[in-house]
Amino acid sequence: AAPNAYQRASETAAYVRSKLPEVLQKPKVAIVCGSGLGGLVDTIEAEPKVELAYSTIPNFPRSTVQGHAGNFVFGQIGPQKTPVALLVGRAHFYEGHTMDLVTFATRVCKLLGVETMIVTNAAGGLNENYEVGDIVCLNDHLNMAGLVGIHPLRGPNIEEFGVRFPPLSDAYDLDLRRRTHKAWKTLGLDQQKRRIHEGVYAFVAGPTYETRAECRMLRTLGADVVGMSTVPEIVVARHADIRVLAFSLVTNKAILAAGVQGSDATIQAMTKAELDEHLSKGKANHAEVLEAGREAAKDMQALVKQILSDLHEE
Ligand code: 6GU
Repeated sequence: AAPNAYQRASETAAYVRSKLPEVLQKPKVAIVCGSGLGGLVDTIEAEPKVELAYSTIPNFPRSTVQGHAGNFVFGQIGPQKTPVALLVGRAHFYEGHTMDLVTFATRVCKLLGVETMIVTNAAGGLNENYEVGDIVCLNDHLNMAGLVGIHPLRGPNIEEFGVRFPPLSDAYDLDLRRRTHKAWKTLGLDQQKRRIHEGVYAFVAGPTYETRAECRMLRTLGADVVGMSTVPEIVVARHADIRVLAFSLVTNKAILAAGVQGSDATIQAMTKAELDEHLSKGKANHAEVLEAGREAAKDMQALVKQILSDLHEE
């Protein structure tokens, strides 16, 4: 029989361990870096540090999108030298990967001994109070793809990782969220324009951005941000009892698109200039997503570093 995810992840974990010095072999925290947030690697101390290209790691998916490098990076963060594993670049479902591959690295992290996972992503803002560049600390999700059967835990349950029917009612660790908001204040980040929110992430399969009607639907359903990643990893992490903290960087106001509606009469009365403005409003594009990431990455780095330092003291 073909090896299952536990057997493949075990093989990969053994390979990865063989490439690491002893001090890096048991990362406590894994950090998944989303689009444009790869700068988080700069929080790692210079030495010891090991970078493994995804393409050299057995069983690992290859990432295919621009702005998503593919490196599994091991090192230590902060004065306490917390051993961490960074996933710089991730596999998305829309690339054609199976859910099994999308969540494979999470399972390897579990086998390496990871207890806490911090997941970041770029997402569209649906909450009308959110501005581009704001950070959302996720407190829940709508697994849109999962609810219709595109789910990483579909199939025989892998008992080595967790139970058949895992609860997800408190998937987003409240203690880690408390530490996040405390860290935000400690760093003085509450004194600037960029804000942090608590919010709900809607996971869609992509690769198209949402239509105006889809944005309205997701907002009505209670979503604050929308994106094409993170939820599969979180589901698999929670299955394996890894504590989870997740951040979205708001890269565009998806809700602007949803707001613009017209009756036949108002559309007929529009000037060409008004029409052009209407069409450009809230339209998502990949360049904008990467740009917002560059600016906010520094705050996100400082935040993650401060949270790790706070965790060390527990
Ligand atoms: Cl508007 N939608 C989705 N699905 N993903 C995004 C996004 C929007 N903006 C950044 N990522």
